Amino acid sequence: MAAISLSKLNKHYGSLFHAVKDVDLEIADKEFVALVGPSGCGKSTTLRMIAGLEDITSGDIRIGDRIVNHLPPRDRDIAMVFQNYALYQHMSVYDNLAFGLRNKKTPEAEIKAAIDRAAGMLGLHELLARKPKQLSGGQQQRVALGRCIVRNPEVFLFDEPLSNLDAKLRAQMRIEIKRLHAAIPTTSVFVTHDQVEAMTLGDRVVIMRDGRVQQVGTPLQVYGKPANKFVAGFIGAPAMNFVNVTVRTEGGATAVEATGLKLTVGEAYARALAPYNGKPVIMGARPEHLALGEGAAGLSFDAHVEVVEQLGSEILLETRLGSHGITVARVPAETVIASGDQVRVSVQPGRLHFFDTETELPITG
Ligand SMILES: Nc1ncnc2c1ncn2[C@@H]1O[C@H](COP(=O)(O)OP(=O)(O)O)[C@@H](O)[C@H]1O
Ligand SMILES: [Mg+2]
Repeated sequence: MAAISLSKLNKHYGSLFHAVKDVDLEIADKEFVALVGPSGCGKSTTLRMIAGLEDITSGDIRIGDRIVNHLPPRDRDIAMVFQNYALYQHMSVYDNLAFGLRNKKTPEAEIKAAIDRAAGMLGLHELLARKPKQLSGGQQQRVALGRCIVRNPEVFLFDEPLSNLDAKLRAQMRIEIKRLHAAIPTTSVFVTHDQVEAMTLGDRVVIMRDGRVQQVGTPLQVYGKPANKFVAGFIGAPAMNFVNVTVRTEGGATAVEATGLKLTVGEAYARALAPYNGKPVIMGARPEHLALGEGAAGLSFDAHVEVVEQLGSEILLETRLGSHGITVARVPAETVIASGDQVRVSVQPGRLHFFDTETELPITG
């Protein structure tokens, strides 16, 4: 049993740089949590503090029922997988897998049984005699995973383990990691800058920015109800479109307006936007919630096609509306369309987001 609890966790590098700021996070036993955010936001620092590879400046880290703030890494019962695999180059795969257990003076028969099991799960049997340099990147990463499984720790920590792999292999390894977690449910923290990786792997996703946690939630929660404009723009690909609009309430109807745009919003939005009458707000619309053609009453606008990206399964359109670039996704691949065309674009009802221009918090009424 190993839940992880971070409370008021802070990391200062020197006197000037505050890398991790008041991070509070409760990770349940056996939960898989993905920690995601742009490069430099403090993900690795947070993970390394959990591992004991980095001193904490203040706060508490609990693993299971112990406060581990000052425990050395080897006493925390964790195993870590890094981006660069960190395998011992002069040792065979078998010896790499055995290394941690031999250090703990585990009997060789037990080690062999553990390696057999891990090799079976990860398809490593035919590679056991090879040296790491005789393996592809994907195979090396699988050995690194195997090394963690063999140790049977309370906690797995992953720091961008898939970032050196090509896109296809990355997708395969993602599935293997999911399968692994289902087979041996172990509390896991997975750091990545890739929101697709975070969304597909995490039971819950933690979004960080500038050392601070922005939101913690299931993939569906962070996609559907982003805690602020940053999360809204970070989660989802292609990214959410943002348009600066002004709220106008006239004769019982509420519209949001920008140059070349006037959308009449439904009742729930109207209630939420009532305090903003006459004021600017930020409207968000995901590319996949826009469609070509006239939609529900008052929810369409004209845009100018700038770039057509044919993906075979669908078209991605980059369009322009006044000073705003608007991406439209999910356009049927057969659609006859070219840059320079004028198109009618409609918004799916109920799929708009609004944010306060100052606080960037959602306007939910
Ligand atoms: N040893 C260090 N000394 C000084 N600054 C550091 C050190 N390690 C990381 N940083 C800084 O702390 C911030 C967070 O780093 P890191 O946790 O590695 O980010 P991430 O993993 O999210 O890309 C970055 O701005 C980085 O430059
Ligand atoms: Mg990092």
